[in-house]
Amino acid sequence: MPRIAIIGATGAVGRECLTLLDSGLVPVERVVPVGSARSVGRDLRAELALSLPMAPLVTVEDLDPRALDVAVFCAGVDVSNREAERLAAAGVLVVDNSSAFRMRPDVPLVVPQVNPRTLAVRPASHLVANPNCSTIQLVRALAPLHELATLDSVVVATYQAASGGGLRGLEELARGSREVLDDPGARGEPGGRFGQPLPFDLIPEIGLQDDSGLTHEERKLVREPRKILGLPELRVSATAVRVPVFHCHSEAVHVRVRRPVTTEAVEKALAATPGLRVHTRADSPSYPMPRSVFARPEDRALVHVGRVRVEPDDPRAVAVWVVADNLWVGAALNALQIVELASSQGWLK
Ligand SMILES: NC(=O)c1ccc[n+]([C@@H]2O[C@H](COP(=O)([O-])OP(=O)(O)OC[C@H]3O[C@@H](n4cnc5c(N)ncnc54)[C@H](OP(=O)(O)O)[C@@H]3O)[C@@H](O)[C@H]2O)c1
Repeated sequence: MPRIAIIGATGAVGRECLTLLDSGLVPVERVVPVGSARSVGRDLRAELALSLPMAPLVTVEDLDPRALDVAVFCAGVDVSNREAERLAAAGVLVVDNSSAFRMRPDVPLVVPQVNPRTLAVRPASHLVANPNCSTIQLVRALAPLHELATLDSVVVATYQAASGGGLRGLEELARGSREVLDDPGARGEPGGRFGQPLPFDLIPEIGLQDDSGLTHEERKLVREPRKILGLPELRVSATAVRVPVFHCHSEAVHVRVRRPVTTEAVEKALAATPGLRVHTRADSPSYPMPRSVFARPEDRALVHVGRVRVEPDDPRAVAVWVVADNLWVGAALNALQIVELASSQGWLK
């Protein structure tokens, strides 16, 4: 069984990694929780009521790569840029949740349900990148559509939850919402985790805009699906919006495919895809919503698709509504499923 370090163990994604490991998702010999210097010594095993074999928290500089098989990085791009390659060079398999290595040709960008074959051979870099949270749920819905009728182009609008901004994002939304309810004139301060106050508002800008006007998040949504799906020419147009929802990202996805399809054929293809749950007009409500997806662990582990429709006047135009938990499907679960895949390849102890 592998010895695994969770770097960023106190954060929104890191905690979910620990919870999922505690549930037995990947059997481990030992877990080493890692955080910044301010968290050294914290006993996350007791704080989170876990039964994992786990010592008190250490810093990444204190990690001995000889005592590790896997390191899952969830501490932001700066920590990944500074420390991931040191561990990888020592032979530790690094699974990185940040955007540091995603587009590097020697680093596979992996969604286990979509492109597991990219891990047929252990990468010489010892690095595997976890895609952006919005990308993961998008490609998991797109892959069966591509299989069915070949993707031509994709237009996606995201509705991204505050948990995408980590623990600080969640705290800001909770605190700011209370302030506005107590004083409807309260405007909140610009800045903070989301650039603008989020309570009761929508922010159509996630990350910095480049010269073309695309934001950082939108660039990821354009580039990462091409690499994962192996479709370098795929046209993707994205608008990423932060919404005052605590958990789970939603996406309105409009796809043009090369062959004509029917709504029934699309629903059937999606329903036959492991890990996807299709919500139909027979369900009540007939579509997934973020709060209800977050409410049950079995739903947090799935990608939910609803409002499946083919334009009556254009049988090559498909629209779907996709909801998934960005902390599980979009981060911790995907990362640990990569570890599971690596383990099944016999790469780990
Ligand atoms: N949130 C999401 O939905 C999501 C989805 C996909 C990918 N990601 C990526 O996952 C990463 C973590 O995101 P998050 O939302 O979990 O953020 P977060 O809640 O802000 O957590 C950040 C973590 O990084 C740790 N950290 C900060 N500086 C460190 C250092 N110098 N050395 C070691 N650890 C350090 C923090 O530890 P302390 O508590 O000790 O400061 C904390 O555990 C980011 O790269 C993010 O882009 C997030």
